[in-house]
Amino acid sequence: MRTAIIFYSRTGATRTVATALASALDADIGEIRCPRYRTGPLRYLIAGYNSVKGNLPSIEGPSVDPAEYDLVVIGTPVWTSHPSLPVRAYLATKPQLPRRIALVVTHGGHSPAETAIAELTALLPAPPVGTLALQNDRIVKEDPSDHINAFARTLMNESVTGS
Ligand SMILES: Cc1cc2nc3c(=O)[nH]c(=O)nc-3n(C[C@H](O)[C@H](O)[C@H](O)COP(=O)(O)O)c2cc1C
Repeated sequence: MRTAIIFYSRTGATRTVATALASALDADIGEIRCPRYRTGPLRYLIAGYNSVKGNLPSIEGPSVDPAEYDLVVIGTPVWTSHPSLPVRAYLATKPQLPRRIALVVTHGGHSPAETAIAELTALLPAPPVGTLALQNDRIVKEDPSDHINAFARTLMNESVTGS
């Protein structure tokens, strides 16, 4: 089963999870980049403002075509309770997604990930086959390997039983 992980990360947490998951699943990886929101406190505020307003930015990438895969994992941080604007912008391009999609969402712990997961789910061709929500501290201050490897096993089992 061909698997791709398509993600956006502003400060590295979602990238850490996406990279480890790609390794566990032997998946290809494609990053969405968004120069407008590169690091810095002012960019953080602008990102938050635009996220609330739903102002979608220009994005670059990802370098993988989801149509070529059986399973695509979409990774995003939570921004103002929504999926990050670069991922919302990517999905607004209506990429040709397979029916098997999984979600990875990282968040700061000050609003539940469920709202962003529900918003993403509404944009998918079918309900996600799995979701992993991880708080930022768990990624940057602890070792998230157990969570990531358990999620990878769930997705691998799903690919056996879900076809
Ligand atoms: C503009 C902006 C808005 C955010 N809004 C939320 C939020 O509503 N709830 C939350 O728990 N975390 C929020 N966060 C924190 C990020 O979701 C969290 O730090 C995430 O792990 C960052 O992922 P990254 O390092 O891959 O960019 C926000 C971060 C940014 C930059």
